[in-house]
Amino acid sequence: MHDPTVGLYVHVPFCERICPYCDFAVVRARVLKPELENAYVDALLKELAARKETFAQRRLETVYLGGGTPSLLRPESVARILAAAREAFAETAPEEVTLEVNPSTLERARLPAFRAAGVNRLSVGVQSFNDLVLHRLGRAHRACEARKTLHSAREAGFVNLSLDLIFGAPRQSEEDFARDLEETIAFAPQHVSAYGLTIEAGTPFALAAERGQLGPADDDSVAMMMELAATRLAAAGLAPYEISSFARPGFESRHNRRYWERRPVLGIGVGAWSSEPPTPWEPFGARSANVRGLAEYLARIAQGELPAEGTREVLDERTARGEAMFLALRTTGGLDAERFAAEFGGPPRRFFAGAIDSCTKAGLLCELRGGDLRLTARGRLLSDSVFAQLV
Ligand SMILES: C[S@@+](CC[C@H](N)C(=O)[O-])C[C@H]1O[C@@H](n2cnc3c(N)ncnc32)[C@H](O)[C@@H]1O
Ligand code: SF4
Repeated sequence: MHDPTVGLYVHVPFCERICPYCDFAVVRARVLKPELENAYVDALLKELAARKETFAQRRLETVYLGGGTPSLLRPESVARILAAAREAFAETAPEEVTLEVNPSTLERARLPAFRAAGVNRLSVGVQSFNDLVLHRLGRAHRACEARKTLHSAREAGFVNLSLDLIFGAPRQSEEDFARDLEETIAFAPQHVSAYGLTIEAGTPFALAAERGQLGPADDDSVAMMMELAATRLAAAGLAPYEISSFARPGFESRHNRRYWERRPVLGIGVGAWSSEPPTPWEPFGARSANVRGLAEYLARIAQGELPAEGTREVLDERTARGEAMFLALRTTGGLDAERFAAEFGGPPRRFFAGAIDSCTKAGLLCELRGGDLRLTARGRLLSDSVFAQLV
C-alpha cells in the first residue's frame, strides 16, 4: 500500500538535568549556549538535506520535535527547522507540528513565538502535580511551574495541548495518582499520555532498584493506576486510543499514529530512528538509528557522512508480520485482519494460531468476527507478555 505522506521526527538531546529514570539520547546542558545550539541545528539541516531523497515525493504530514528538551531551543531555531522541513518536502505545510515542553526549561514568554514559528501542538512533560513525587522522580521542575506552563500555553493560543503523566513512581500511592488525574482533567487538555514508570537498564533508577533502595510501586498497584487512568480520563471525554494515549475526538496524535501504523518516518538528530517506506526491492521497508553521542553525531555530519549507527536493517516478511501484529494491538482499534491479509497474503491466524489461542484462553486477547484481534482489559495490563508470545 503506497503511503504518499511522511512524518519528520527531530531529536533535540539537551536537558537542564538528566532524570535518573531516563534512557533517551540526552546531554546535560544547564544553559544551552547559542554556539552549540546553532551548530546542532546546522547539523540537523545538513542531515535532512542528505536524507530527504529516500522520502521524496511525499507530503509532509507531521513534524515532532522531541527530546531531550526541544523547548530549550530559541523560537528562531525552531522556525529554521520547520522552514527547512517544508522546503525538503515540496513546500507542503504539515498538519500537526508538536513541540515537547519541559516546564522547568521553558521561558513562558517564548510560547507565542513558538506558535508563530508554526508549532500547533504542545506536549507538556508534567509527570505529576505532586511535588514529592516530582522530587522522587528527580525532576528539575515543581508542580507550580507545570501549572504556569499550561496556563501560558492556553494564553498563547495553543488549542491542542497534551500532558505527559507518569504512574508507578517510587512510593507513589493510588490516591496520589488519582489526584494527578483530577488536576489533569481540570486543565481540560486535548490529549494525555500516561506512562507506567519503566526501570531502564543502566539508569541510576535501575542501580537503586538492584540495591533495593528504590521502592517502586508493586504490580497490583500499577495495574490499579492504569485502570484508574482509563476510567477517569474516558469519563472526562478523553477516550483511550492506544495503551498509554487518551484523546478527545479528533485530537489523537497523528505523528504517533504513524509508528503504530508502520508508516514512513524520517528521524534526524542524535539517537533518532527512521522507518523507510517499502520499495519494490525492499517490500517491507527498512529502518535505521542514528548514533547516540552528540560529539560523534556532529563530527560525522562535519565530515559529510551520514550519522547512522551500525547497518540499516532491511525488514524481512516475518519481522514485518510480528511488528504489524504488536503495533496494531497497542491501539484500541486493534488489528484489522483484512488489511493484514492484504499485506501478508493470509489472515493473522495462518501465522500466529498458537499464540492467538493461548492468549485468548488466558483472557488477554479477543478474536472478533472476521479474525480481527484486540487486547482485552487484562491484555492491556499484561501487554508485554502478549507481545513476547507474538514476536
Ligand atoms: C523523553 S521525554 C521528553 C519530554 C521531556 N523531556 C520531559 O521529560 O518532560 C518524553 C516522555 O517520556 C516519558 N518517559 C521517559 N522515560 C520514561 C520511563 N523510564 N518510564 C516511563 N516514562 C518515561 C515521560 O513521561 C516523558 O514526558
Ligand atoms: S527531561 Fe525528559 S528527556 Fe530530559 S532527562 Fe528528563 S525525562 Fe529524559
